[in-house]
Amino acid sequence: MKIKVVLVGSGGREDALARRIKESGGTIVTIMTNDNPSIRSLSEKTYFFTENDVESILNTIKEENPDLVYVSPDSFLETNLVDKLEYAKIRVASPTSRAFKIESSKIYMRQLMKRYGIQGNIKFEIFDSDYEVSKFLEDTSKEFAIKPAGLTGGKGVKLTDSHFRNREEAKEYASEIIRKDRKVLIEEKVEGEEFSLQAFTDGATLFFSPIAQDYKRLGEGDTGPNTGGMGSITDRNGSLPFLRQESIDKAKEILRKFVASLYDDGALFRGIIYGQFMQTKKDIKVIEVNGRLADPEGINILNLLEGDVCELLMAIANAELSEKKFRFKMKASVVKYIVPKGYGTSPLPSTLRINTDNLPEDVKIFYGSVSGDLNEVKMTHSRALAIYAEAETIWEASEKIEANLWRIEGEYEMRHDIGTKKSLAKKVEYFTLA
Ligand code: AMP
Ligand code: GLY
Repeated sequence: MKIKVVLVGSGGREDALARRIKESGGTIVTIMTNDNPSIRSLSEKTYFFTENDVESILNTIKEENPDLVYVSPDSFLETNLVDKLEYAKIRVASPTSRAFKIESSKIYMRQLMKRYGIQGNIKFEIFDSDYEVSKFLEDTSKEFAIKPAGLTGGKGVKLTDSHFRNREEAKEYASEIIRKDRKVLIEEKVEGEEFSLQAFTDGATLFFSPIAQDYKRLGEGDTGPNTGGMGSITDRNGSLPFLRQESIDKAKEILRKFVASLYDDGALFRGIIYGQFMQTKKDIKVIEVNGRLADPEGINILNLLEGDVCELLMAIANAELSEKKFRFKMKASVVKYIVPKGYGTSPLPSTLRINTDNLPEDVKIFYGSVSGDLNEVKMTHSRALAIYAEAETIWEASEKIEANLWRIEGEYEMRHDIGTKKSLAKKVEYFTLA
C-alpha cells in the first residue's frame, strides 16, 4: 500500500517494522532518538527528538501530513503524543496514553484484572509504607516479585530469592521504590516457563501472532540479571515445545478480555497488545501486559508476517481489522541480540564492523541502539544488533545465526544458547519431571 508513514522510534524492532513498511510500498519519515543507520537509509527524512519534545514532534508530524503515524516505543507511548495526534485528527495505529496505562502502570493492570475478573491474575499487594512492607515480607516464607508500578525497561522487577541475599536487602529495595514512587507493588512469585503473545488490534478484533519466548536473563543458562531481552524464539506451528494448545487458547481469551475491559473502563485500545504469561505446572498466569510490539519478540513476528504491513496498520487505525486477511509464515525463527560488553551492569560501548555481503535471505541483521553507518556502528549502553534467522526448526535457526557471526567484528557479548537443542530440552523437561 503506497502510504506515507511517520514512524516514531529507532531501535531493532522499529528497524524490522521500517523494512516491512518499505517492502509493502510505503514511504517513511522517522522520528529518532539515536541515528539508526538502517532506519535512516530506509527513510525519506529523519528528525531527532526525545519523548520530552511532544509539541515539536506534533508540529513536525502536522507539517509532514502523513497518511498514518505509528508510535512504537514505550517511552513515547507514555506521553500524551498519541492523544494529541488523535485530537488533531491525524490517523494513528498506536494506543492513547490512557489505553497504554495497561503497561505504564502495573498497579492499574493488576487492579483492572481484579475488577473485571480477568483470568490468570497473581496475588498482589500495594504498599506505601516501609513498615507494612517489612511486616509483610517478614510474616511469610513465600518468595515475591518486587516491582515499581511504572516503566523500567524490563529491569525494575526483582525476585526475593534470586536478586537479594536476604530479606533485609529485599525490604531496602521496596523502600527505595516507595521513596521514589510513593508506592510499591509486591506480587507472589510464580514459577514456570514464560511466553509472549502479541496481537494486533483495532479495539474490537484481535489478530494473534505466533507465541514467542524472550530470553530475559543476561547470562547463558538463564543466569544473571533481567534485561530488556537478549533474544527470542518462535516455532513453525505458532506454539512452543513446552506449551499446550489449551494454554494458548486461554492466553488469547485473556488478551481479548483485556481489550474489552479497557473499553468498558473508558479506553479504546488500538495497536499491539502484548501479554507476558507464565506457564506454571498447573495453569497460566499473567506476568505483565504491554501496549506495544515486544523487542526482540516483535522482530520475530514482523518477519514472519505475510502480506502488506501498511494495510494492517491502516486497518488498525481505521477500525477495520479482519483477522482473515493476514497470516504468518509456517517457519521457526530466532533472534539473538549483540550487546556491549558489560551490558546490564556497566556497559562499555565500542565499535562494531558489519559485513552483509551475500547475506542469506533467511538471515537478517537489524540495527538497534546504534549510530554510524551500515557497515560500521557505534554502540550505546543498550542492545546494538539483532541477528534474525528463520528455518524449519528453532535450533536450526539458532545455528544459522551462529554460522553468520563472522560478519560482526568487535568487542561484544551475546547469548549463544538461545534456541539451542539443549536450551529447548531443558524447558520441556521442566514440565515432564515431577
Ligand atoms: P515484568 O517487567 O513485570 O515483565 O517483569 C520482568 C520479569 O520479572 C518477568 O519477565 C519475569 O521473569 C519476572 N517476574 C515478574 N513478575 C513475576 C512474578 N510475579 N513471579 C515470577 N517472576 C516474575
Ligand atoms: N521483550 C521484552 C519487552 O519488550 O518488554
